[in-house]
Amino acid sequence: MSNKHPSDIPPRGETKSSRGQTVLRAILAVGGGLVLVVLGSLLVDFGLAPSWLTGATRDQSEAETAAAQSGGDGKQAALFQPPAESTIPDDDFGKSVRRGMAIFNDTGTNAHDFVGNDLSCSNCHLDAGRQAYSAPMWAAYPVYPKYRGKNKMVNTMEDRIKGCFTYSMNAQGSPSGGPPPYGSDVYRDLQAYFFWMSKGLPTGEKPEGAGFGKIDKPAQEPSRQRGEEVFAQNCAVCHGADGQGQKDINGKVVFPPLWGPHSFNWGAGMHKVDAAAAFIKHNMPLSEPNKLSVQEAWDVAAFVDSHPRPNDPRQIGDVTVKDAFDKWHHKHQGFYGKEVDGELMGPGYPSGDQASVPAQNENSGG
Ligand code: HEC
Ligand code: HEC
Repeated sequence: MSNKHPSDIPPRGETKSSRGQTVLRAILAVGGGLVLVVLGSLLVDFGLAPSWLTGATRDQSEAETAAAQSGGDGKQAALFQPPAESTIPDDDFGKSVRRGMAIFNDTGTNAHDFVGNDLSCSNCHLDAGRQAYSAPMWAAYPVYPKYRGKNKMVNTMEDRIKGCFTYSMNAQGSPSGGPPPYGSDVYRDLQAYFFWMSKGLPTGEKPEGAGFGKIDKPAQEPSRQRGEEVFAQNCAVCHGADGQGQKDINGKVVFPPLWGPHSFNWGAGMHKVDAAAAFIKHNMPLSEPNKLSVQEAWDVAAFVDSHPRPNDPRQIGDVTVKDAFDKWHHKHQGFYGKEVDGELMGPGYPSGDQASVPAQNENSGG
């Protein structure tokens, strides 16, 4: 991947407008007076208000984005623009695409039996899996099946999605106790959605915008202490001072939890400080990509990832944290198996029935 991205990409109209819509939705959903005031001023700070007040649609702003890119300095590879939602066909295939999109955006409702935390796929794969540098699904679909070192096998797209259910969605704590079984319609519909979204991209080539993008190494070792301050200033307003996020009056998640019993587990990709730093640099604070310096992104990633969370589902029975560390975590840049303020990171939270957690060699990562 080229290393000139994405810090020198101009702010994207489409991103801004859809972020604005997310924040607007959040305000409408939360509805509380105080929150409204706080978020209202955030909108002004972020310069978000105009894009949604003027009613810019996604299609319009996509055109602006494309124009901004082609009118740039010519060094930037144009980012693929996934098709507009309005082009989903009105037939049985389109119905499957729409079901997949619904699962992606509200996983706890639409794939209820397999979700063991408060997250949805779109909390990490932003803008319904469309946003470049937040591991967008249009960029993923054309490069599968693909060999992954994490589970030492060729992963189909189904395997890969299963990984995100197992770890990022903490399926061990779900009503069914595990991820959707192979062949489930959940995978079928999600794949229909990704396939539809990647229309026109060549297979076997990793497009620009894939993954979380690059982040430079920090000048100094990442520091939880400095990260705590970055967090208080840039993140707590939405995710809460305790990192537990916020729900609306109907109990729907508006800002997702970053650690604790309702977040992703110790096996998830986001628990690695390098992955979280890249995600945060390019995507957080919401709607302000690249606001944080490289050092701040690493520091706040270290702060977020040095808190307790649900246990690694591979660490079952008599597998100790130390065993799991030696087997799966020793190469990771993370806090699993380490002590933070005298507390061992890794024992996790009790997760109910452990009977249907994945076998130890079935560890497709997420
Ligand atoms: C807590 C954050 C988080 C959540 C929630 C999450 N994922 Fe992921 N996902 C990740 C991370 C981290 C990666 C690895 C990104 C990379 O390789 O740069 C990833 C990668 C993927 C990939 C492969 C992307 C690629 O380019 O190879 C797919 C497909 C995927 N996730 C699907 C899903 C689906 C479907 C859901 C919901 C069922 C989901 N994810 C929920 C964090 C998350
Ligand atoms: C304006 C509100 C807002 C601010 C400020 C903000 N976030 Fe977020 N964050 C969100 C929302 C909303 C999502 C889910 C994205 C979605 O669903 O579109 C999210 C998602 C995330 C995720 C992935 C999901 C999860 O639960 O792990 C991480 C990690 C994260 N934010 C970290 C941060 C950090 C670190 C900061 C500060 C540097 C920050 N955020 C600032 C609103 C915010």
